[in-house]
Amino acid sequence: MQHPPDVLVQAIRYDTDVISARQLGRKRAEELGFSRPDQALVATAISELARNIVVYADQGEIELATIHQPDRVGIKITAKDRGPGIADLESALADGFSTGNSLGLGLPGTRRIVDEFDITSSPGLGVIVTVVKWSRR
Ligand SMILES: Nc1ncnc2c1ncn2[C@@H]1O[C@H](COP(=O)(O)OP(=O)(O)OP(=O)(O)O)[C@@H](O)[C@H]1O
Ligand SMILES: [Mg+2]
Repeated sequence: MQHPPDVLVQAIRYDTDVISARQLGRKRAEELGFSRPDQALVATAISELARNIVVYADQGEIELATIHQPDRVGIKITAKDRGPGIADLESALADGFSTGNSLGLGLPGTRRIVDEFDITSSPGLGVIVTVVKWSRR
């Protein structure tokens, strides 16, 4: 049997790219045996990170990598852009903080629904968010 590639990359610029990335992630999670609720959480995390790229950075990419370990399998989602970056990461991760007149729940909400969450940013150099969701089984 042929295995699908372990790393998928979706360029993000338009709303349609957000939808494509979300669908790729959901499909990959399903293929890997993630529960239905966990598939939905993977899709939601991808949507939030990709939407932030469209809104705040104009363009970037979402990379999905499969992580195989003896006892579990995971999906690592990396969202990268070279936009303006985030000056105050602590504020950006707080519930309700938004510079875009939105709910300000994307990053803190994403952090709560994944197993590992890492964000780095330098003003002027963009943002890299890396999250991992492990499948429970
Ligand atoms: N890729 C990014 N580049 C630059 N700034 C970002 C990026 N992602 C998030 N931010 C900043 O962090 C803030 C918080 O992001 P978060 O996704 O939590 O909330 P939001 O996008 O404002 O609202 P919501 O996601 O609830 O619609 C944003 O308002 C923005 O200032
Ligand atoms: Mg957001």
